[in-house]
Order: sequence, then C-alpha cells, then structure tokens
Amino acid sequence: LGMFTFDPAFMTTASCESKITFIDGDKGILLHGGYPIDQLAEKSSFLEVFHLLFYGELPSAEQLISLKTSMNSHSMLHEGLRSVYNGFRRDAHPMAMLVGIVGALSAYYHDSMDINNKRHRELCALRLIAKMPTIAANCYRYTKGLPYVYPRNDLSYVENFIYMMFSAPTEEYKFNKTAVHALETMLILHADHEQNASTSTVRLAGSSQANPFACIAAGIATLWGPAHGGANEAVIRMLQEIQDVKNIPDYIARVKDKNNPTRLMGFGHRVYKNFDPRAKIINQVCHELLHELNAEHAPLFEIAMELERIALEDEYFIERKLYPNVDFYSGIILSALGIPLNMFTAMFALARTAGWISQWNEMMEEGNVKIGRPRQLYVGAAMRDYVDLGKR
Ligand code: CMC
Repeated sequence: LGMFTFDPAFMTTASCESKITFIDGDKGILLHGGYPIDQLAEKSSFLEVFHLLFYGELPSAEQLISLKTSMNSHSMLHEGLRSVYNGFRRDAHPMAMLVGIVGALSAYYHDSMDINNKRHRELCALRLIAKMPTIAANCYRYTKGLPYVYPRNDLSYVENFIYMMFSAPTEEYKFNKTAVHALETMLILHADHEQNASTSTVRLAGSSQANPFACIAAGIATLWGPAHGGANEAVIRMLQEIQDVKNIPDYIARVKDKNNPTRLMGFGHRVYKNFDPRAKIINQVCHELLHELNAEHAPLFEIAMELERIALEDEYFIERKLYPNVDFYSGIILSALGIPLNMFTAMFALARTAGWISQWNEMMEEGNVKIGRPRQLYVGAAMRDYVDLGKR
C-alpha cells in the first residue's frame, strides 16, 4: 500500500473534528450539541435546531425571535433569479434546478465571498436558510407552470413553505397541526448527520476557499443520488412498482438475488447497524399522520407496512443488520402530505442545508483551513515510452 492508507468509501477515516453532531452507530445514538435527537424532535422547531447547529446552543426566546425576523427579511428571492428558472425545461427535476439556483446565489451576494468575515458567514447562512423554502417551492411551481407565491411573514417556517408550495391552505389538512408537526419533525431529523457524502462534499469544496453558495450546490448535487437523499423518492417508486401486497415476496426474492442489483430502498445504513434512531421517531409520526388523514389503508402505505414487517423477520436482512432508515418513512410522510414525488429529495436538501452551512462555518471558523486532498493507489501501466501515431 506504500505510504498511504487505502480506505475506499472512507469507512474508517475521520476527516475532521466537529462539535456539531455525535453518532454512535452501534447504540443508535444521535446527538446535536449534546442533545438527543428524540428530545429535539419532540420539543423544538427546525429553526431552533438550526440555531443549535450553527451557533452551538439552543436559542433563548429573544434569539429565536431575532432568528425569525432574519428569516422574514431574507426569504424573498432576487427577481433576477426568475430568468434563471425560466431557462430550465418545465419537466426539469427539482434537484437539477436546486443545484443551479443555489449555486447562482453566489452571483447575487458578493459579500458571501468574504469567507473570513464572521458576520458575512452568518449572513450567508441566514440568507440560505431563509431562502431555501422559497427556492424549493418555486422549483415545484415552475414545473407546474404556476405563478410563484411570495412568502408570508406571519407564518411559521414550515407553514410558509406549505403556503408557497400550494399557494393557500386550500385543503384543510395542509395547515392541520399534525401535518405541520410531521413536516417539522422530518426537517429536524434531516438537519444534520455529521460527515455523510453531501456534508463531506461541502467541506471538501469549502476547503478550497470556494464561495459558500457554490459549496452548498455541490452538497445538493451529492444528495441527489438514490444511495443518499434520493432514497426517499426511490422508496415510493419502489412501492409503486410492487403495486400490491401479494407481490412483496417476489420483490424480496429479487432483492436477495446476488445477480440482481435491486435493493430494498429505505433499508440499511452505513453507520447505524442496529437501528436508526431517526427512523424510530419518524415511524411514530408517520403512523399518527396516516391515522389523522384517514390514510392508513391507502394501498401504498399498506405495502410499506407489510414490506417492513416481512423484511424485519427475514434472515437476509437480520444477518446484514438492515433496518428501515429515516427515508423509508419520510417518503411516506411527504407523500401523505401531498408533496409531489420529484420534490422529496428537495425537501431533504431544504433540511440538510442547516447542517451543511453549519459544518462549513465550523470549518472556516477554525481558520487555517488546509485544502482537502486525498491520495490514491495507482494501479495503471508502469512507465513506458511514447509510441508514435503511425506505429500504434
Ligand atoms: N437491500 C438489500 N440488500 C442490501 C441493502 C438494501 N437496501 N443495503 C445493503 N444491502 C446488503 C448488500 O448487498 C451487502 O450484502 P453482501 O454482504 O451479501 O454483499 C450488505 O448488505 C452490506 O451492504 P453495503 O452496500 O456494503 O452497505 P453500505 O454501508 O455501503 O451501504 C447504504 C449503505 C445505505 C448505501 C445501503 O444500505 C443502501 O443502498 N440502502 C438503500 C438506499 C437507501 O435507503 N439509502 C438511504 C440511506 S439513509 C439516508 C441518507 O444517508 O441519505
């Protein structure tokens, strides 16, 4: 191996020190700033969790009001971004648009380049968190050909997103307390998860002193894949493909077949090998929501519940320590809330922006950031002489 440690997929490499999130994968523990995720999910709001991740402490009542005021003053988008949206095809995937729009913010806020200035880093974070719901909702409305809806300051962060997506609480459930709580919980549970692929990408991009909006765009691009954030969309596509409870055994057999690349989406995790503590919480919220919406017997949900039951009793999954992860249930919640399928990963991105920008800020705050630069093991041809074109 020469002088380098070979660690493909970084299974055993710690790339940084961080105070933000602690995970014990064997015990199923997840803490943010020392606070257990179940307590945060039950008692706090997404904005409180963002404050905790970014500033290191939960906000006081006054700090929370000031944060909400910042959200209100930064939630609008520059009208110039309309032309950026207009350049996309109407059938573009919202994640494709999200990468472009968030990256484009770097062309509007030049102070964001002042990355060694604490106040400018904070301003960049506040702008991002405030604008993400507007950006995401606009992506949806653009694909539908609907007019954009401007944010409303009297609504909570989550309600505002729902309002901008659907233009008004036309259907009763959209401002239903259980629905808002389910979405808030989903955002809290996805806010940060230490050095996952997208967060590591944000840090690596940031280590070159790149513009923070561009770094977050790189994180969004990484999140898109079905092995990462794209899993919540893939779960529903899988349930649609299964179609009926009676087809589950066949599907499970396909998943277990080594010659078939199909995986049970929403199952398994790189770090959690006993259970995903987020899944436990979201499972409960998911059941409450389905009950409230009287949707427990909707075919898709019945397939999901049966799939979960069968997989948890199956040797293949038990041996490999494969349990439902957070995205198995988040897809079901989003679907029950009427969020369109191609927006699911954008919802994950909306939440994870809190973690990305906090991790980026933590890295910049440490100062003397060394550019990330992994090495490789070269396995190509040994040195040889150039062969002239006529002789090849
Ligand atoms: N269905 C069937 N078999 C699986 C699955 C699955 N979902 N996940 C892992 N395996 C098998 C895999 O084939 C391998 O078997 P064997 O030892 O016989 O070769 C064994 O379990 C270990 O798998 P691995 O790929 O080495 O595990 P990993 O830690 O590299 O992968 C994972 C973790 C999450 C990418 C993977 O479990 C997976 O692809 N799950 C489905 C996609 C998914 O739900 N992703 C969301 C993850 S949570 C949210 C997030 O991080 O964004």
